[in-house]
This record gives sequence, structure tokens and C-alpha cells, in this order.
Amino acid sequence: MKNVALKVIENNQIYKNTFLLKIELNNSLTNAQPGQFIMIYTSLNFEPLLGRPMSIHRVNHDKKYFSILYNVVGKGTKLLSNKINGDIINVLGPLGNAIPFKKESMNFLLIAGGIGIAPLIWFADKLIASNKNVVMLIGAQNKDSVFPLNEIDQQVEIEVMTDDGSLGSKGLVTEKIKHYMEWVDEISLCGPEGMFQSANRIIGTSKQIPAYALFEKEMACGIGICYGCAIKDKDGKPNLICTKGPSFELKKIYG
Ligand SMILES: Cc1cc2nc3c(=O)[nH]c(=O)nc-3n(C[C@H](O)[C@H](O)[C@H](O)COP(=O)(O)OP(=O)(O)OC[C@H]3O[C@@H](n4cnc5c(N)ncnc54)[C@H](O)[C@@H]3O)c2cc1C
Ligand code: FES
Repeated sequence: MKNVALKVIENNQIYKNTFLLKIELNNSLTNAQPGQFIMIYTSLNFEPLLGRPMSIHRVNHDKKYFSILYNVVGKGTKLLSNKINGDIINVLGPLGNAIPFKKESMNFLLIAGGIGIAPLIWFADKLIASNKNVVMLIGAQNKDSVFPLNEIDQQVEIEVMTDDGSLGSKGLVTEKIKHYMEWVDEISLCGPEGMFQSANRIIGTSKQIPAYALFEKEMACGIGICYGCAIKDKDGKPNLICTKGPSFELKKIYG
């Protein structure tokens, strides 16, 4: 797989320190699936040298663009936030696995912590298009850090939890999981690892419900060469997030 140079179509701050970047769609990204990611090179002069992994947020085949939703946290994402319409950006992908799910499952619980909502929005789009029932639990610090709810498919049932109670209920997003355990067939999560561990403790009582989480680690190559992105599973065996993940079943990692 090769880096491709693609044109920026739009790059806007949409809430707090979160930007939505739209990039022209090329052939290799046309078949990308929710959960997959790209390595995006934030500068053409190799400073910083390494790409930054970003989930594919949505693909719009009609308008021929794909988007990423990103938080500005450091050097690379700051550079990214300065890109404007017409700038050229280098991209490698799609990489990693798609969020797994069984075709026969009907009821899906998606759990998003912070910027972890980025890949789950598109996954929800696809599930709704396949006539599935989708509940999305959204956890955020406060009302200003919640993804615009009107941008989510209207058929998705949404519950928001904020740390300070300024939108939705006050508390941690994982507190809501138990209300859906009777109903749900499959669970998908993206967010901080603490959220995964807490969810695993709650879901752990009914191991028959598959729960897949998208894991993150800083990545140097994104293609299985540097071994920098390994996480250990419950048996102590290393798994590369970039090639075997980013989606792993929770019980594979935590038992
Ligand atoms: C598969 C995958 C998908 C991702 N998808 C998204 C996404 O859709 N939107 C988004 O905003 N971010 C996403 N990330 C995280 C994103 O890659 C980092 O925020 C980004 O690389 C930071 O680059 P920087 O140069 O701005 O920050 P740096 O200067 O490199 O670091 C600034 C801060 O960010 C932390 N950081 C760096 N890389 C990561 C990482 N991989 N995970 C968590 N914290 C990190 C550093 O520890 C440091 O505290 C994803 C990461 C992975 C592995
Ligand atoms: S990022 Fe290099 S092996 Fe995964």
C-alpha cells in the first residue's frame, strides 16, 4: 500500500477543540469500512516525520469525500487544524480491521467516550441502513464537548452522559450499560481504556454478548513493521493494534 496525495475539501472546527476534515475520496478508500483508520501525514516537509492514526469518520460516496473528526492535542493535530481547502495531504489507508458484527444480530449498543465517537457515527449509519436497532451512549466532559447530535442519523436512539451534568444525565457513560443488557445483541465501544475496563466488568456477567472495542496506541508505521502498537491480551500474548485491530473483543484482552 502506498501513500496517496489527496486534496483537502474542508476543515472546520465544529465544537470545542474538535475539527471535521473532509478529504477527496480516492479509489483505495472507496471500500473502507467503519472501524478502519488512516495514517495521515500532517506536513509535507516531514516535520513531524511520522503519520498520525485517525479513524475514518464517514465516507460520502455521492459527494466523493471522506472525513475525519479529530481533537487538537499536540503538534501534528495542530498542523492539521491549519489545513485549508485545496491543500494537499498525504494519506495511507484504509488500515486495520472493520468493527466486527454478526449479520443476524438486531440490537446494537454503541458506547462512545469523548472523541471515540468518531468511528461509531459511521458504524451507526451502516447499521441503520441495514434496518438494525441502534442505541448510542455518548459520554463527554460537558455540553461543549458533545458531538452535534443533529449530525447523527435520526433513527439512532441517543443517551448523553456528561461528567458535570450540563447535558443529559450526570455521570459516567458506562453506568447506562446495565439498562440495555436484556435487549442488546452486540456492543461496540470506542473511547478511553478506563471505559473499556469498566464496561468489561459490567458486561462480564453475560459473556455471551460480544463486545468489541477500538483500541488506541501511538503508532509509528500503521502497517505492522515497528511493533510499537502491541497490546497484550489476557494470556500475555502481544497483538498489533494496527494490523490485528483496532477492534478487539473485550474478553480477548481483559478476560
Ligand atoms: C487507530 C487509531 C485511531 C484514532 N482515531 C482518532 C480520531 O478519529 N480522532 C482523534 O482525534 N484521534 C484519534 N486517534 C488519536 C490520534 O492519533 C492522536 O491524538 C494523534 O496522533 C496526536 O497527534 P499530535 O501530533 O497532535 O499529538 P502528539 O504531540 O503526538 O501528542 C499529544 C498528546 O496526545 C497523546 N497521543 C498521541 N497519540 C495518541 C494516541 N494514538 N492515542 C491517544 N493519545 C495519543 C500523547 O500521549 C500526548 O499526550 C486515533 C489513534 C489510533 C491509534
Ligand atoms: S504501528 Fe507499527 S507495528 Fe503497529
